[in-house]
Amino acid sequence: MSNNRIDAVVSDIVNGIRQALIKHEVTFDEYRAGVMYAVKTGEAGEIPLLLDVFLNSTISDIENAAYGGTEGTIEGPYYLPDAPLISNGGEILTYDDDRNVPMIVRGTVKDLQGRPIAGATVDIWHSTPDGYYGGIHNDIPANYYRGKVLTDSEGRYFVRSTVPVPYKIPDQGPTGALLEMMGGHSWRPAHVHFKVRADGYHTLTTQSYFEQGDYVDDDCCNGVRQVQIKPDVRENGEKVIENDFQLAPDVIAS
Ligand code: DHB
Ligand code: FE
Repeated sequence: MSNNRIDAVVSDIVNGIRQALIKHEVTFDEYRAGVMYAVKTGEAGEIPLLLDVFLNSTISDIENAAYGGTEGTIEGPYYLPDAPLISNGGEILTYDDDRNVPMIVRGTVKDLQGRPIAGATVDIWHSTPDGYYGGIHNDIPANYYRGKVLTDSEGRYFVRSTVPVPYKIPDQGPTGALLEMMGGHSWRPAHVHFKVRADGYHTLTTQSYFEQGDYVDDDCCNGVRQVQIKPDVRENGEKVIENDFQLAPDVIAS
């Protein structure tokens, strides 16, 4: 069975690649090297990593333009759906660590008209103070450094955690090698991930970054957008990350 959308998209991708090959007069040897690179990337299990590094942020931009509301960005590979429920005002589980900088994550969830959405789920996850994820790296339990909080009747949410640090995506395989050959690197700026859900609304997946943080202007995954960069607000020694999220309806307006 033929599929017009697959035909339209894949034909344009192939044509785009052909234009690039022609523009740079790519040789047969270079083409073979590219094929071998693709094989090695597959063998290393890095196809998702490679595609996410270069293309996921573009898909986020397309979704942002289609739905409106708060700007979304890449999800990354470390979202886990079963994070613990944290009471509003409570604490995400973290290790006691001298390097911990306490962090308040708070704000509101509203609709496009600015009306509060009560009972929205704000799912939060971020790295440890040394750049690892709970349930993924180093035997850190899956209920650490992640949690879900429900908004109150005025759409507000508030949890405490600790400040994350810049994170290096896997850099020992073909993806890291390519980024380096392109004059780049494998670092992401420090970030806090969010997934915000409410019935009848388009799920928002986004991140917050820290103003002046390392790699904010040079994210290996091209995932930073200006509105997501948060100023350095501190209250009683606690870093404050504030987001007033706006959710769009879950149907694309036409
Ligand atoms: C990767 C890790 C992240 O924490 C993230 O936000 C995006 C990408 C990665 O390892 O590819
Ligand atoms: Fe991440």
